[in-house]
Amino acid sequence: MKRRKLWYQTAVFYELYVRAFKDSDGDGHGDLKGVIERMDYLADLGVDCIWLLPTYPSPLVDDGYDIADYYGVHADYGSLEDFKALIEAAHARGLRVVTDLVMNHTSDQHPWFQASRRGEAPYTDYYVWSDTDDKYADARIIFLDTESSNWTWDEERGQYFWHRFYSQQPDLNFDNPAVQEELFDIARFWMDLGLDGFRADAVPYLIEREGTNCENLPETHDYLKRFRAMMDEEYPDAILLCEANQWPEDVRPYFGGDADDPTVPGDEFHMGFHFPVMPRLYMALKRGNRTPVVDIMKRTPEIPANTQWCTFLRNHDELTLEMVTEEERQWMWKQYAPDPRMRLNLGIRRRLAPLVDNSRHKIELLNSLLFTLPGSPIIYYGDEIGMGDNIQLHDRNGVRTPMQWDNGRNAGFSTAAITYTPAIDDPIYGYQRVNVADQLANPTSLLYRMHKLIAIYKEQPALALGDLNFLDHPDRALLAFERTYNKETILCLHNLSQRGVKLRAPTSWDLLADVTWHEGLMTIPPFGYRWLKIEFGRQRLL
Ligand code: BGC
Repeated sequence: MKRRKLWYQTAVFYELYVRAFKDSDGDGHGDLKGVIERMDYLADLGVDCIWLLPTYPSPLVDDGYDIADYYGVHADYGSLEDFKALIEAAHARGLRVVTDLVMNHTSDQHPWFQASRRGEAPYTDYYVWSDTDDKYADARIIFLDTESSNWTWDEERGQYFWHRFYSQQPDLNFDNPAVQEELFDIARFWMDLGLDGFRADAVPYLIEREGTNCENLPETHDYLKRFRAMMDEEYPDAILLCEANQWPEDVRPYFGGDADDPTVPGDEFHMGFHFPVMPRLYMALKRGNRTPVVDIMKRTPEIPANTQWCTFLRNHDELTLEMVTEEERQWMWKQYAPDPRMRLNLGIRRRLAPLVDNSRHKIELLNSLLFTLPGSPIIYYGDEIGMGDNIQLHDRNGVRTPMQWDNGRNAGFSTAAITYTPAIDDPIYGYQRVNVADQLANPTSLLYRMHKLIAIYKEQPALALGDLNFLDHPDRALLAFERTYNKETILCLHNLSQRGVKLRAPTSWDLLADVTWHEGLMTIPPFGYRWLKIEFGRQRLL
């Protein structure tokens, strides 16, 4: 299918945790000015869009996803002026900026909730209250390790309130038109500062209905479509990225348009995370077998021509295993989280490099899949240099440690005596060994490899927009597919095993090695990968 090129369909995203990135004032916390100081690093890396994790005032029970004021910036991070300056610094370098918009819930410290629990108008019905805790019993609990119910008793109001996440995060009542309007206004406020869009957090859960699992309800989609219409009307260049940790067929409606006709433009979200492909990349790698990836991509419906998936290897949360079977989950835990401290809720709280035992080949192979399978790739800060994690830290904090800039004090992140959390300092992943400065001085570093993958990705629209066609090969360790766009085909070859895989390759240009291959036998080394541009009309042999 021919797609028109829209900026977000070919963009590389960088997920950035402000607290961890760079501390500009020596208080031990990263801040917005620090991000500005390091903007050139991001521009040089070649990414197109920064996704900032929440920077709103918050008691930080859920690290900022519990918002106490939608119209401000947390004092640790700076001011609204700094936020604006960050956007300007990004735009000056041709980068865009999106941030989280947490729609589903607020902090219990938010003045709306404080007023609501006192029964004060007009906030009385801003949240979901009930006299009993047995409503909506079919809704699952998401933070399984900490919450035993989606209802919590509030002494002051004398009622239970509904929450899909921590009990300090009451869900807003989206059946209330006033709440719906509030979110419109909040979006306008941030867009007027010059932002390029939002990652809309936890959107499947906006509305509750008895007898359903309270996820992906038609009423939720109705509201989100109205939200999009407002954005299109008032901020036509902005994007909305949907965070719905669901199966591909359940995410499809979040793009809008017509499920049976992908030529009908999407009218809900511009982008949506593809959650289920992520654990399957790790699964395929560990099994040396392409099947999990091929199966989930075949199960992925076509999306409207004006939309795009977002893909990732890791993010600020646990590596979620919600979208796999129980048997697969147990297997993944056994393989990738042998120590119980590595597990959290239904996932694994580890970073990319430690997940693959710091194997440079495997880190690159997974990144190659990230850049060649459909979807705009998102890089999680620090993974471009192979940072490690600290599983001793609470909740998901182990994957949110300071960015490792150099081998100096606090990894070059901060001059403070004590930082919000210590930089990784172990014999393998410690900042003395893993840091930006060293990798910039070494042309063979992972960081430079990432520069190269990004640069080629951006030169080759087929990798972003091309149709996907899996190719057969008797050896299931070979994950081979073509991406075809505008008469250009790129053959992507991945060897998921620790032995060489042989195949017959067509005459082609090797985009990564900058050499021509002549038709004939090719061996892909253990965990190796190739991006081969094939002359149009040539046969691809395998
Ligand atoms: C975010 C989490 C957060 C949760 C509740 C998720 O989508 O990625 O970090 O805890 O929403 O807001």
